[in-house]
Amino acid sequence: MKLANVTVIGGQWGDEGKGKIVDWLASRADVVVRFQGGHNAGHTLVVGNQTYKLSLLPSGIVGGTLSVIGNGVVLDPWALRDEIGRLREQGVEIGPDKLQIADTCPLILPFHRDLDALREDASGAGKIGTTRRGIGPAYEDKVGRRAIRVCDLAHLGELGPQLDRICAHHDALRAGFGQPGIDREALLRELGEVAETVLPYARPVWKTLHEARARGRRILFEGAQGVLLDVDHGTYPFVTSSNTVAGTAAAGTGLGPSAAGFVLGIVKAYTTRVGSGPFPTELEDAVGQRLGERGHEFGTVTGRKRRCGWFDAVLVRQSMAVAGVTGIALTKLDVLDGLDEIRICTGYGLRGETLDHLPAHAADQAAVEPIYEAMPGWPESTAGARSWRQLPAQAIKYIRRIEELIACPVALVSTSPEREDTILVRDPFAH
Ligand code: GDP
Ligand code: IMO
Ligand code: MG
Repeated sequence: MKLANVTVIGGQWGDEGKGKIVDWLASRADVVVRFQGGHNAGHTLVVGNQTYKLSLLPSGIVGGTLSVIGNGVVLDPWALRDEIGRLREQGVEIGPDKLQIADTCPLILPFHRDLDALREDASGAGKIGTTRRGIGPAYEDKVGRRAIRVCDLAHLGELGPQLDRICAHHDALRAGFGQPGIDREALLRELGEVAETVLPYARPVWKTLHEARARGRRILFEGAQGVLLDVDHGTYPFVTSSNTVAGTAAAGTGLGPSAAGFVLGIVKAYTTRVGSGPFPTELEDAVGQRLGERGHEFGTVTGRKRRCGWFDAVLVRQSMAVAGVTGIALTKLDVLDGLDEIRICTGYGLRGETLDHLPAHAADQAAVEPIYEAMPGWPESTAGARSWRQLPAQAIKYIRRIEELIACPVALVSTSPEREDTILVRDPFAH
């Protein structure tokens, strides 16, 4: 049996339970790597009576697996410092032997955060509902070749020409919002202070990862957000500013596409979304309320209430296809316990036509009417189940129907927030 790498990605609009699954898989991996996004992510891990909340650090860090932040991540150095501090208080020591950060990561700076908030506030009903953490503006500066990167922290005295370009761009934008220009002195001072926190972890991580691969080590890639938030494949413009599909694991770490291995899509047994944008199966009734309460659907990052709805097989089938998913981890099955009836969206109606995919245009996405099939629920509890045998027959029927509709097999099932409450159906590391 060949042991493969595993790439974990979100199959819906984020918050599918990626952190829990990555933490569970990490004990069998040698390296865990983040490859896109930033501290807009919020991954909750429950181990015994401890709860850990991670935004920027790879979820392998809690179990002590070597954790790497790849070049595709946008890094807020102050958020990094605070998160390392919080974990240290919880007894997780994070030294350079445990964490490496790509020296090519672009930094999220205070003016990125400002711009994110200013733009959202000025957009009225058109706002995206971002996490206001500066993710979009930081990626814009990366592509605009204005970014300050981790390696620049060791060369602050040579930043002059780069700062000229940044200020030329941002001061004009800031003036439009009635804001003062960037204070270059203050910025350099603050960067000088935070450099001490970041630089000890800075490395050419592509090299670490290549060496690990050459020695047959197992790499676990940890995606953030989800396919429906992908800047190309998601519900544009209500998306994040990175590609969240598995292919990004290659460009965002410096490993070629063959390194991705088994692509494990994390899929929630129902649907949630935080922020604005279309959501065909959203429930604004008592069932939606119940899913939110039983599933504790509040954002880890912003504390916002997540919108809830039935499982949308049209969206997930499309996500699995565009992201190249090999198998899924179906999470939060227990949240559906005790429902009389469960619905699955199997198609959309739009102006008299039936669609088997999500249309590209935002207005059409907002107008589609879900076509449902209904199944009986199960009165038994699945919470904490750790084997297939412990699942009620009707829950198994639900899982099998989902597999059929999304054309993708189930590899894992998760039945509670706790690390060990996970059913292994087929081992992603040994496919
Ligand atoms: P991520 O962003 O994909 O890592 O997901 P989040 O951590 O933001 O949100 C998932 C939430 O559901 C967290 O609070 C997890 O502790 C919790 N969770 C994960 N898996 C399960 C599960 O199988 N059942 C229940 N009830 N909760 C789960
Ligand atoms: P994890 O990794 C859910 C959403 C925001 C907003 C949109 C753009 O925990 O699954 P951004 O700040 O990225 O520019 O916001 O994307 N969003 C997420 N929603 N889970 C996440 O991450 C998210 N990261 C961003 O709510 O709608
Ligand atoms: Mg989350």
